[in-house]
Amino acid sequence: MEEWNKQILFIGGKGGVGKSTSATAIAWKQAMLGKKTLLVSTDPAHNLGDLFDSPIDRKGTRISPSLTVLEIDPQFETETYISEVKENMKHIIHSGWLDEVNRLLDTARVSPGADEAAMFNKVIDIVVEERKQYDAIIFDTAPTGHTIRLLSLPELMGVWVESMLQKRKKTNEHYSKLLHDGERVDDPIYQVLKKRQEKFAHARTILLDNDQTGFIFVLNPERLPILETKKAINLLDNYQLFVKSLIINKVLPNDASGEYIEMRRKHERFYLQQIRELFPRKHLCEVPLFSKDISFISDLEIFSSYLEGEAKQ
Ligand SMILES: Nc1ncnc2c1ncn2[C@@H]1O[C@H](COP(=O)(O)OP(=O)(O)O)[C@@H](O)[C@H]1O
Ligand SMILES: [Mg+2]
Repeated sequence: MEEWNKQILFIGGKGGVGKSTSATAIAWKQAMLGKKTLLVSTDPAHNLGDLFDSPIDRKGTRISPSLTVLEIDPQFETETYISEVKENMKHIIHSGWLDEVNRLLDTARVSPGADEAAMFNKVIDIVVEERKQYDAIIFDTAPTGHTIRLLSLPELMGVWVESMLQKRKKTNEHYSKLLHDGERVDDPIYQVLKKRQEKFAHARTILLDNDQTGFIFVLNPERLPILETKKAINLLDNYQLFVKSLIINKVLPNDASGEYIEMRRKHERFYLQQIRELFPRKHLCEVPLFSKDISFISDLEIFSSYLEGEAKQ
């Protein structure tokens, strides 16, 4: 799968279809090829630790010399983010206001959306900063809806920061006129916002660059995952984020037989055909349903051989 060679890869799809398994198989393979690889889970229901049979740290756990695994902890990221903002504010806000502002920030910590914003912040940091230390970064993302929100946030945040900047500029010009005889003064809040805007813009450039970033969706040959994938891909298209490859996971193996299996296979053929019709220009890759859960490295290696096209069913 050509998409593999992208430095940044997002794996999306409905819950249970095999995102974590696919992301892990890809990351494992990349690491085996000697690439310095980071596997990141943004799904609050983390399970990468189980796959590697090792607890995973929120700051990253080294699984092998070239593979680091990270499970983003939204609560920890929120704390870190709020502390950063507080630190910033200390230099900006008049000391008399500081207590009040800190109280407000403490409320923001538990407000709806705080986790998502913190998660988003961490993803952006990885895309912009940590990227420099890795040859390959694979994001195992939360079920579809969240992923799309996450990926479309740079755009929304970009618009938000832009309007804040405009307001800030006007306020500053206004004050300059009143207080400094029209002389422009440096506005520290403007500077902080400007820096954030630049970071988002940078992240967007990377995410929109087909040479650097790839998006893969995992689905099963079943009605709901197909419908959901179609919806998600259309939405992402609107943001110029183009999904080029689909992993069709848990396809009945050719050598499975029996009356019951044949009945299922008939249904499956219908859905496989539907997938081909609905996604005519996507690269499709089929992975068979294994006879058991994928819980060992040896299973991951077999799984990845299907993704590479080495094994075919
Ligand atoms: N091809 C497959 N054959 C058999 N079991 C699979 C296959 N792919 C995934 N699984 C199993 O299905 C379950 C869900 O997979 P997982 O990767 O955790 O899904 P997601 O991350 O999309 O929620 C896991 O128990 C996993 O071992
Ligand atoms: Mg998962």
